[in-house]
Amino acid sequence: MAFHIFKCSIEYYTNLNVDVEAIGVLEVTGKRTKMTNATKQPDSAPGYDAFMGRWSRNLAPQFVAWLSVAPHRRWLDVGCGTGALTAAIQYGAAPCEVWGVDPSAEYVKYAEAALPKAHCRFLVGDAQALPDRLEGFDATVSGLALNLIPDYTRALAEMIRVTRPGGIVAVYVWDFANGMLLLRLLWDAATQLDAAARTFDQGNLYPICKPDPLRELFIGAGLSAVETQALEIPMVFRDFDDYWRPLAAGLGYAPGYVASLPPAQRQQLRERLRTMLPTRDDGSISLTARAWAVRGLRGSRTA
Ligand SMILES: C[S@@+](CC[C@H](N)C(=O)[O-])C[C@H]1O[C@@H](n2cnc3c(N)ncnc32)[C@H](O)[C@@H]1O
Repeated sequence: MAFHIFKCSIEYYTNLNVDVEAIGVLEVTGKRTKMTNATKQPDSAPGYDAFMGRWSRNLAPQFVAWLSVAPHRRWLDVGCGTGALTAAIQYGAAPCEVWGVDPSAEYVKYAEAALPKAHCRFLVGDAQALPDRLEGFDATVSGLALNLIPDYTRALAEMIRVTRPGGIVAVYVWDFANGMLLLRLLWDAATQLDAAARTFDQGNLYPICKPDPLRELFIGAGLSAVETQALEIPMVFRDFDDYWRPLAAGLGYAPGYVASLPPAQRQQLRERLRTMLPTRDDGSISLTARAWAVRGLRGSRTA
């Protein structure tokens, strides 16, 4: 089975305990397994925005409001992607400066073009080894990215390192196991039709995306005053097509799964979802999406 995946590091998949050979995107060279160029999906900023960015842009302002950081502060957005959270900071928190960092040059370019250059700066970089010039932030945050970082404990240590003593460190991630209904229903339908789809269900792949593991991660990293919070947004689709089209477009992890299915199975999945989604008389579909957020303060002795 060909399976298209949007992140391309072997460590990423092995960390998730995904049977990378079974999912068919990799070529095996001796004991090393590498993703082939032919199966790599390029990052597509418009593709991300059409599938997920349209929702993450609604979620980010809630997170920023929950943090209640004073105006004129310096912020860092780690895993900034196309800039949904960066924009929420810029327009909702009156910062004096916001930096965004992401390993995708394509996403960074897109975010850079969308946000005012006087206040928002971007770098291509990895959360697990943040660029040297990033330091002394009042608020270091990350939206919907932590679970995608192979060594997220190290990434959190890096976020703390670049935060000033007394500054805030905070992240949020989708509640893949329960509250992110767009994906929950997709994986439930897919698993009903093929039990093997369980392997790809993000609810199984990301145990960190729950309040207790997030709290433990933050406390274990030495942060104080650690708190978690549910954030929820409505997700209203004009009609079934508005729900299905971004999934069928193949850009992103879940759309990659859908695109990997042979046409008959894809059609079955489509029809199964149609029966499962709560459709109103006017054809619209009203779902909700929940994320879990966690925040903590860097103490003066936190390394
Ligand atoms: C689901 S997107 C979220 C983007 C944006 N924060 C938002 O809320 O829309 C996840 C982002 O994590 C980034 N990412 C993946 N691995 C990363 C790493 N090692 N370090 C930093 N960011 C990473 C991806 O490039 C992608 O932009």
